[in-house]
Amino acid sequence: MLDVSQIFENNKRWVAEKLSGDPEYFEKLSKGQSPDVLYIGCSDSRATAEDLMGMQPGEVFVHRNIANLVVSTDNNLNAVVQYAVEQLKVKFIVVCGHYECGGVKAAMNPTDMGQLNSWLQTLRDVYRLHEEELNVIEDPQKRYDKLVELNVLEQCYNVIKIDHVQRSLSKTGYPKILGWVFDVRTGKLIDLGLDMEQEFEKIRYIYDLYLLDGPL
Ligand code: CO
Repeated sequence: MLDVSQIFENNKRWVAEKLSGDPEYFEKLSKGQSPDVLYIGCSDSRATAEDLMGMQPGEVFVHRNIANLVVSTDNNLNAVVQYAVEQLKVKFIVVCGHYECGGVKAAMNPTDMGQLNSWLQTLRDVYRLHEEELNVIEDPQKRYDKLVELNVLEQCYNVIKIDHVQRSLSKTGYPKILGWVFDVRTGKLIDLGLDMEQEFEKIRYIYDLYLLDGPL
């Protein structure tokens, strides 16, 4: 079991390391933050945010939940996105999934998981939306990996559905929305190469809240 006091020893060492690099490190850090990135990732302890990107304190605004979901009724997520876009004016919103995601695996194996059921339902909906593509994949591991990737795509769609994001995009062209997967098996970060502006073109007649000449 973890010896919690070790954490405080780690912290002392970390403070000393930072100060040895720059004696004013924490003084500067305390002045404020202006991160360019909002990172939306999984709570999984293996899929860290700053560590895997090689980023430092002050450089990434972070939101994590089980299976990196962007749920429209999630007040926590909505507040994070609004603050990141309107106040911090982030240039990028990253949705980062990861292979071997327990949330995605649970969604592929329907069982009663109590409080988790409603959360995992969003993932099961992603499965249903892409069932044709997923069901032709015979290797269960490959199907599982594909659902991780498709979940990132769907959550990127969910980011672009948010009013604050749309307003900022139409005014400034930012934030850019990026879909990544962290491969815990190799440590590599994979860019799925999603072009969300192009993707949005296909669905904006449904989701663009500021489209004046819509079909209705
Ligand atoms: Co996960």
